[in-house]
Amino acid sequence: MTHKITLIPGDGIGTEVTQAVVRILEATGLKFEWETVQAGAEAFEKYKEYIPKELTQSIERTHVALKGPITTPVGGGFASINVQLRKQFELYANFRPVRNLPHIATRYPDVDLVIVRENTESLYSGLEHEVVPGVVESLKIITEKASTRISRFAFEYARKNQRKRVHAIHKANIMKLSDGLFLRCSRTVAKEFPEITYGEHIVDNTCMQLVMNPYQYDVMVMENLYGDIISDLCAGLVGGLGLVPSANLGECCAIFEAVHGSAPDIAGKNLANPTALLRSALLMLRHIGEPEGALKIRNALETVYRDRDKLTKDVGGKAGTSEFADHVIQAMQQ
Ligand code: NAI
Repeated sequence: MTHKITLIPGDGIGTEVTQAVVRILEATGLKFEWETVQAGAEAFEKYKEYIPKELTQSIERTHVALKGPITTPVGGGFASINVQLRKQFELYANFRPVRNLPHIATRYPDVDLVIVRENTESLYSGLEHEVVPGVVESLKIITEKASTRISRFAFEYARKNQRKRVHAIHKANIMKLSDGLFLRCSRTVAKEFPEITYGEHIVDNTCMQLVMNPYQYDVMVMENLYGDIISDLCAGLVGGLGLVPSANLGECCAIFEAVHGSAPDIAGKNLANPTALLRSALLMLRHIGEPEGALKIRNALETVYRDRDKLTKDVGGKAGTSEFADHVIQAMQQ
C-alpha cells in the first residue's frame, strides 16, 4: 500500500530536517507518495498566498501532513501559519509526549509526560486592536465547547493508555472567567473518568514543580498559550527542543510537526537535530496504521543514541543533520 502524505518542508531548519526524515521513512521499505507544498513566506513568493489553495486541497485529499517549522515574523507581518493551519483544519488537540532518549544525560532520567494543548483558541485567537494610541487589547477566547473537547481528549487518552493522573493547568485565580470556565469543563469531564486521579495546578507553580519534580505529572491538559510555554520547558527536561515531537489532531485530519521552530540561528548549517521531527513521524506512522515501521525506526534511533559521536551537536555529538540520518538508516539495515 502506498501512503499519500502532504509534505510541508517549512523554512529555516525545516527543509533540512524534513529531508532527513523523509530519507529515513523511505528506508523503512514502506511506500509513500509525497505531495510537497510550501507554506509561509516561501509559499508567498510562488503562489502569492501564505497558505496556498494547493496546500489546503492536498491536506483535504491526504488527511495527513508532515510539516517542518515555519517562521512567524515578530511584532508585525503575517499571522502565524502554524496557528492558522491548526484552526483551518480544526486540529483542536496538540498532543506532545515528552520522554527521555537513552544515553542523553539530563537532570531527571525516565521522564514520561504527556502535554495536551488546546490548539484553536485562547490568546491565539489573533484578536488584537489598538484602543487608543498607547493602549492595545488582546482577546483571550475560551469556550465551553473547546475546553470540554480538549479535556475529554486528555482523559480518553489517559484511559486508553493506562495513565493514572490528569492535571488541568490554569490561572483561574487571576483570569477567573476564562480559566475558570476551562477548569469547570475539566472538572465535569473528570467525573466521567473516576479511575483517573484529577488534579489542578496554577501555571506558574507548575513551572516550578516541573523543574523540581517532573514525576508528579502524568497527563497535563491546558489552554493554548500555557501549552506552548510548558512544552518548551518540558523539552528542556529531556535534552532540548531537538528531541520533542507533536501531533496536531482533529476529526478530519492530522498534521505532525516538531515542537521546535525554524531555528534561524542554525539554519542552513547542517546542524539541526532531526530527532524531534522523526519522533513526530513515528506518531504519524502509528496514526496511519504502520506501527511496525514506527518500531523499526524507534529501535534504530535508540541504537544510534548509544553512540554520542553519531549525534548532532545540540545533544553533544559531532554529526551533521544528514550524517545523523545516514546513521539511523544504517542502524535500520543492520
Ligand atoms: P526555535 O525552536 O526555532 O529555537 C529555539 C532554540 O532551540 C534555538 O537556539 C535553536 O537553535 C534550538 N533548536 C530548535 N530546534 C532545534 C533542532 N531541531 N536542533 C537543534 N537545535 C534546535 O524557537 P525560536 O527561535 O523562538 O523561533 C524561531 C522561529 O520559529 C520563529 O519565527 C517562531 O515563530 C517559529 N516557530 C515555529 C513553530 C512551528 O512551525 N510550529 C514553533 C515554534 C516557533
